[in-house]
Amino acid sequence: MLLFTAPADLKSHLEEIHGPKTTLGLLPTMGALHNGHLELMRRAVAENDLTVASIFVNPLQFNNPDDLTKYPRTLDEDCAMLEAAGCDLVFAPSAEDMYAQPPTLKLDFGQLEHVMEGAFRPGHFNGVGIVVARLFHIVQPDRAYFGQKDLQQVAVVRRLVEDLAFPLELVVCPTVREADGLAMSSRNRRLNPQERVLAPLIFRTLSEAKERLLAGQTVADVKQRVREQFARQPEFSLEYFEVADARSLQPVAATLSDGQTALCIAANLGAVRLIDNVLF
Ligand code: PAF
Repeated sequence: MLLFTAPADLKSHLEEIHGPKTTLGLLPTMGALHNGHLELMRRAVAENDLTVASIFVNPLQFNNPDDLTKYPRTLDEDCAMLEAAGCDLVFAPSAEDMYAQPPTLKLDFGQLEHVMEGAFRPGHFNGVGIVVARLFHIVQPDRAYFGQKDLQQVAVVRRLVEDLAFPLELVVCPTVREADGLAMSSRNRRLNPQERVLAPLIFRTLSEAKERLLAGQTVADVKQRVREQFARQPEFSLEYFEVADARSLQPVAATLSDGQTALCIAANLGAVRLIDNVLF
């Protein structure tokens, strides 16, 4: 496995090895890899002739400076895991490699900016959009792999691909969970042992809410119940629990009949912000 830090070096290497008869899969990450990332990489390896994983903690997408500073950085460990999963190339630029000058471009994802992650993390999707577009330009993948856990990010990247006509296929893979249901996330390693025991409440809440909606309870009642459940848990601070259309991510007042309802949650557990969702 080869490691590149300079975008120009990776680009010229890929120009040599990625011809029209080979397919290239890209897995964009911010490192601190876990089994969820490795599942995506294994799928990319199975579906492509060549694979690139990017590891870049993108400052543009952090609206909270403390979150950026505390984001785990584990490059050596990440590279060893990627190599074992069959990855061919790792792209791990510094912020200076990636942004010689701070980008001034502002992307507007319309209504996606006004709900859930868009509403609670101003500027976040602008940063995601800019870095993902840059990665697509540098790597020019045939397929790009993203996890369903970041459902709204998937919707944003889909818009980016459509609006800017990137010639690639977006592959979205199911959320990988710990045995107790907690969605795998790089942030989980920042939970202390007590918080780690409490964290599965998020997935339990989503699963229970789904059952209640399927049993005919109204969206308003289910939302109220979730708010009450979290109010009883002082360790958590609930940012949002939303019942939304899984494609547009806009809130819905009743579940959709075509299997496209998404239940989405974001909550802070101590100093760690966790998100999760289920679709049905
Ligand atoms: O999901 C992530 O890890 C990041 O948002 C991404 C897509 C790598 C962009 O920095």
